[in-house]
Parts: sequence; C-alpha cells; structure tokens
Amino acid sequence: MRKILVTGGAGYIGSHACKELSRAGYLPVSFDNLSNGHKKAVKWGPLIIGNINNSNQLNKVFTKYKPLAVMHFAGCISVGESEIRPSKYYKNNVKGTLSLLNVMKKFSVKYMVYSSSGAVYGKTKKNPIKETAIKKPTNPYGWSKLISEKMILKFSDICGIKFAILRYFNASGADKLLDIGECHKPETHLIPLVLKAALKKNNSIKIFGNNYKTKDGTCIRDYIHVSDLAKAHVLSLNKIIKDKKSFHLNLGTGKGYSVKEIIDLAKKITNKEIKVNIFPRRKGDIPEMIADSKKAKRILNWKIKNSDIKTILETAWNWHKKQI
Ligand SMILES: NC(=O)c1ccc[n+]([C@@H]2O[C@H](COP(=O)([O-])OP(=O)(O)OC[C@H]3O[C@@H](n4cnc5c(N)ncnc54)[C@H](O)[C@@H]3O)[C@@H](O)[C@H]2O)c1
Repeated sequence: MRKILVTGGAGYIGSHACKELSRAGYLPVSFDNLSNGHKKAVKWGPLIIGNINNSNQLNKVFTKYKPLAVMHFAGCISVGESEIRPSKYYKNNVKGTLSLLNVMKKFSVKYMVYSSSGAVYGKTKKNPIKETAIKKPTNPYGWSKLISEKMILKFSDICGIKFAILRYFNASGADKLLDIGECHKPETHLIPLVLKAALKKNNSIKIFGNNYKTKDGTCIRDYIHVSDLAKAHVLSLNKIIKDKKSFHLNLGTGKGYSVKEIIDLAKKITNKEIKVNIFPRRKGDIPEMIADSKKAKRILNWKIKNSDIKTILETAWNWHKKQI
C-alpha cells in the first residue's frame, strides 16, 4: 500500500485528509506533536508522535515507512496569536517546513502537498482572488505561509520535488458521518465559536469591527467544507504523481458570507439564542476574502459537494453537539 506521511494528521484538516487518503487506497501515516491535535482523530493509519523541527524523529519515520509523498499540515494557525508571538510562527511554520524539506531531500521523496492559506494575499484590490494576485500578507501567520511556499519552490528547483501548494480560505464543517470534526484549543474560528455560544460553552460571540466597507459592516469570508478540501488534497496528490508537474491552487467556493450572516444562519440552524458583543477591529484582519477557485476545478476536475453554507453549519453543529 502506498504510504503518505501526513504532518499534522491529528489536526482538523489533516485528519479529514487521512480519511480521504484511506478511501483512495493510500495508507496515511500521521506525524503530529499533539500540540493542537487529538489522538482519537487518527483513525485511518498509524500515529507517530513527533515534532517536524526534530530531524532525528523525522529520519526515523522516513526510514520506517518510506513514504511516497508528504502532505504537510503541521503548523500554528492563529492569525491573532501570530501578531503577539511571531517567533513561534516563524519557528514552527517556517523552520519546521525547512526541516521537513531537508529530510524529504535526504530520502529522495519527490511529492509534497502543502497547506498554504488565503492569508498569503493580504488585502487585495479585487475579489474573488486569483492565484496570480499580488501577495502581501498582513500578519506573521500569512508571512510564515508565504516564506514556506518560497522554500518549497527552491527545493523543487534544486532536488526535483513536485508540489501542490493549496491556499485555502476558511476551512469549516465536519465529516458527515461525524467520525471527526473541528476542535482547536483555544478555538479562534468563527463557526465553532458561534456554535459553542449556542451550546452555552461560550457566553457570547465577539464581533471584531462592524464598520468595514462591506454589506453589513462585518468581515466577509469564503467558507469551504473540510471534506471538499480533503478531496482536493487527494486529487492534487494524484495529479502531481501522474503529471510530475507542480502547481498552486486557491480552494474556496467563490461565495462570501459576513460574520453577521453566519451568526444569523447559525441561530436558525441551532434554533438557539446567540448573544453578540461588538469589539473594535483586530489588527491584521481583512474586510473581504473570497477565492477564485476556477483553476482548481479545471485542472483537478474538483467538484465542491458539501460547501453550501447550510451543510457546513449543520455538519459542524451535529459534530459540536456530539462532543457534549
Ligand atoms: N483551518 C483553516 O481554516 C485553515 C485555512 C488555511 C490554511 N490552513 C492551514 O492548514 C493546516 C491545518 O490547519 P488545521 O485547522 O487543521 O489546524 P490544526 O491545529 O487542527 O492542525 C495542525 C496540526 O499540526 C500539529 N502540529 C503543530 N505543530 C507541529 C509540529 N511542530 N510538529 C508536529 N505537529 C505539529 C498540531 O498538533 C495539529 O494537530 C495548517 O497548516 C494551517 O495553517 C488552515
């Protein structure tokens, strides 16, 4: 069975990718330090507990499993925290990716699917955002992703690694069978925070800024279901293996929802009251971010099946209720 090393395989998107890899006939080998992941989310292959910054641990895993490719999800993910603790982001996301690339080079592993982010673009003039848009991140998290992309490009030049750099917008929702779902600690993403407020796990939901130049003054984001994302990862992996060509892709739906719209929809779906408090804008937040994913649909024949906002909220709601 072809083995794929999945860094961050115990995390939210990584665990959904493992499920999809397994469905496609691969064996996902998760490598995760459990700083933000969960042992119980690793269900479709072995879990090796380790840090991508530790090359000895990586060497052992590469020696034992001889992976055909790497899917690299491991990293720190909070934009807000990256403003306060930038060195944590450069160390874990940039140095960690470099450490992984060096081990891939040593073991001649030729394929990588990398979790990048819409955050690499920063504040763009136009929405939806194409892959060719200017990249000017507004926070250390976005920079850590962009610098990692550049390193992957260089390693591709010097040792022939073929890559798929996938820039996703807002991953959301949960596996329809509820095998896995979103569980970050601390949680910083809007949908789980809103649903936790509905379950009274949080007192209220904070809106950071209601005076942006958007339809209702709150920020607009493009929400893509995590299972659709997972599918795009496997399609990308298959494509780089088959065609031996690298590419960058944006992954989103092309539709945006404001913070207020998400809260209103969540109230309807949960049938619960959700208290809202307005706070000042947060540093680094961008008013509107919507992906142009035509390239992904064209080159991967990627079909978005679960990303209508109702399905996203319903699957997430079912998952959060199951965690009580
Ligand atoms: N969630 C989103 O909306 C979103 C959007 C764009 C990009 N991304 C990127 O997708 C990837 C996965 O995001 P997620 O939401 O699943 O986050 P997550 O926190 O659930 O998963 C990341 C996993 O990486 C592990 N990890 C962190 N540092 C590690 C290290 N040094 N060594 C080994 N394991 C380590 C954590 O324990 C965790 O299990 C991240 O790289 C993130 O930047 C996420």
